[in-house]
Amino acid sequence: MTSTRDFTESESAQRDELERLRAEVADWRRRYAKGELRSIGFMNSAADVEPLYTALDVDPYFEALQRQGPVRIQMAFGPPCWLATRYDDVRTIFCDRRFSRMLPPGTEAPGVWHGASAIDPSVPLGMDPPQHTRLRRITSPVFSPRSIRGLTDRIQGHVDGLLDGMVAQGRGTDFVEAYAWDLPILVLTGLLGVPPGHANEFRGWVETTTTMEVSQEDRDQSQLNLVTYIGELIAERRSHQHDDLLAYLVNARDEGERLSEVELLGLVMSLIVGGFETTATQLGSTIYTLMAHRAHWQELVDGRADLLPALDELWRWIPAFRSGTMFVRWATEDIELSDGVVIPVGEAIVPEQSIANRDEAAFPHAWELDFHRVDPRPHLALGFGEHLCMGLHLAKIQVELTVAALVRRFPTLELAIPVTEVQWPARTFMRTVGALPLRW
Ligand code: HEM
Repeated sequence: MTSTRDFTESESAQRDELERLRAEVADWRRRYAKGELRSIGFMNSAADVEPLYTALDVDPYFEALQRQGPVRIQMAFGPPCWLATRYDDVRTIFCDRRFSRMLPPGTEAPGVWHGASAIDPSVPLGMDPPQHTRLRRITSPVFSPRSIRGLTDRIQGHVDGLLDGMVAQGRGTDFVEAYAWDLPILVLTGLLGVPPGHANEFRGWVETTTTMEVSQEDRDQSQLNLVTYIGELIAERRSHQHDDLLAYLVNARDEGERLSEVELLGLVMSLIVGGFETTATQLGSTIYTLMAHRAHWQELVDGRADLLPALDELWRWIPAFRSGTMFVRWATEDIELSDGVVIPVGEAIVPEQSIANRDEAAFPHAWELDFHRVDPRPHLALGFGEHLCMGLHLAKIQVELTVAALVRRFPTLELAIPVTEVQWPARTFMRTVGALPLRW
């Protein structure tokens, strides 16, 4: 059993490689500080190109990495850490409680953006059991498949309204502007009971909080505005009766105990930050992928592929996040992963679930989009295990109702510009399509 394994088999070569990377990373940091690089990626030897993904490409280099199993790497920020690219390893990292989400004291989280992977212990994603288990128990009824199915008519109403708006604007309408960023915010503000008169201001704060295109100062201010506003919504639900998700969360109890104010605020912020840009960008990436893979779109239109398995395959195939660093975990003891590689206690490991979803060992012809997979293994796009995406049914239903309505209403839908002209601005932590002009 090996205790650690690095880029190469020999220890001195490992050290040399790490030294080389450290020097390279130091250079990236200097250039990042001077504003020459907008962000810093990992394991990229060409420091003069911006290495982080923006479009939906997955570097075939990862295939080679998958053959190696977990590797020890140096990211742009933080101490050396591990990177997991195999399906089985990533799934283990998501499921094994010995991998903690709590940043060990005195440690810096590995990251590709400065400070961006810092873990907030007041939000569900930053918690470990038992606090995390209690929080999930309290929230699970409201996010269950049944509860979310109960929202179908309401969400369908938003879908129809937005598509009517696209029809009114006419051919060439940008799906991203006219639809993708509107649907999730309409759904979220409805669930949280934000009055329609405040929805625009609320949306502005959410957008500023989640974009990378503004200064840290503006982001902090927007976050403060959001927290203050949510605090007011909570206070209103404590004093008057309301029938919305927020009222449920305010009154929810576990063994007689309510959520504390801090837990409640952290939870609602997580729903907003975790449920807005993720869903908006997934909607954009899904429609982009269907337009770029015409044969697959046609299969849906002709009824040769069933919608739900096709959507599941799209979830697997689309690499939604630009980096897995926000899902980093720390080993609380020495933990063995594939090929006998041991992650030593205290060290961080980054699960790259987008790459794990392309692991041939888990999905035959994994790099192909195939709407007819037979009994595929569960994909990891929405996580797995204890921290499995809390809003997954909400995200899935928005994508499902959107694609179903587009197939029904616009079977001849196509991109109004060549695929190669589609832009992918580095706007958020997600891979974000800039504009998708459509005609039908
Ligand atoms: C395309 C849409 C979405 C994607 C790709 C996505 C992805 C993910 C992933 C991968 C995780 C697991 C992180 C980990 O284990 O480290 C997660 C967790 C989470 N997601 Fe989502 N998500 C999406 C939509 C949503 C929505 C709509 C909401 C809520 C309205 C939401 C709220 C959350 C929360 C609160 C967590 C933390 C759960 C926990 O720690 O227990 N997400 N999401």
